[in-house]
Amino acid sequence: MGLNLEITLGKIKLNSPLILCSGIFGFGNENIKFIDERKIGAIVTKTITYEPWPGNPQPRIYETNYGMINRIGLQNPGVFYFMRNIFPKLRKKYKRVFVSISGRSEKEFVEIIKIVSKKRIDAIELNLSCPNFENEKKMISQSSELTFKIVKSVKNETDIPVIVKLTPNVTEIKEIAISAEEGGADILSLINTIKGLAVDFKKMRVIDGGLSGPSIKPVGLKCVYDVYKVVNIPIIGMGGITCGLDAIEYFLVGASAIGIGSGFYSNPQIIDDIYKTLKNFLRKNKFKSIREMIGLLNEKKENF
Ligand SMILES: Cc1cc2nc3c(=O)[nH]c(=O)nc-3n(C[C@H](O)[C@H](O)[C@H](O)COP(=O)(O)O)c2cc1C
Repeated sequence: MGLNLEITLGKIKLNSPLILCSGIFGFGNENIKFIDERKIGAIVTKTITYEPWPGNPQPRIYETNYGMINRIGLQNPGVFYFMRNIFPKLRKKYKRVFVSISGRSEKEFVEIIKIVSKKRIDAIELNLSCPNFENEKKMISQSSELTFKIVKSVKNETDIPVIVKLTPNVTEIKEIAISAEEGGADILSLINTIKGLAVDFKKMRVIDGGLSGPSIKPVGLKCVYDVYKVVNIPIIGMGGITCGLDAIEYFLVGASAIGIGSGFYSNPQIIDDIYKTLKNFLRKNKFKSIREMIGLLNEKKENF
């Protein structure tokens, strides 16, 4: 059989370090038939909110020469519909299901957690990158205090491992990551999309949304690199991964697993390609496991 690509994320064992990012695969039924499930460690659902949300009006996705701008918003059918009608199908199909959630207030986060915690979910991912917090219109993960507060409240309500997904749109991501860890986060997910704007000349309009794809990889790497030094919890690295070498870069700077996002749109075979490159890379460099690669080009800060 040769090498396997098993990893552990805190207490969660995954048979592969490749995770399908939130939002890319909808609720796991779309596009997914191309994917060999044995090669993915976990699927993360599109972010779920308490009430159903219609999302933003068109245009929602716009291709640029440097990546994609999306302004889909958190379109979803709400937590009750999701848990009743969608989650059971995902549970049957995938070995590990991570459910992404977001709320407009601390109370809403807690309410959602109470509902999703009744089922066998492998992890909850808190999407703290949405500009929807009460009246402030500020992203939760742009504030250390809010991040700490929300993570702590959520952790008080559940025994399911909690992944905290952060925005890169901050002055110092290390501070936010430390607050998430102090609030009780089990795992971090870095990064969500970066604020961006495109101009559509044909229709003389702008598309104001979140940038993803190859151009954000250096930002994602830098975030993982910086945060790895100052936290003791594992990091799922993502942003601009389009091939196996991109994934390896993320491991070398400190990611324990990696997220496949919009790279899937330009290459539906991306999972197979990365999986194969990872195996070859381990073999060539005589690594016995992914673990041996993690943080090899980085180091933890002493006494941080
Ligand atoms: C169309 C689209 C929808 C997304 N929806 C969500 C979402 O619902 N929740 C979330 O946390 N991230 C969402 N993301 C962000 C991705 O999960 C990922 O963090 C980001 O795209 C960076 O990775 P990439 O450059 O590989 O795409 C979305 C991204 C795209 C392109």
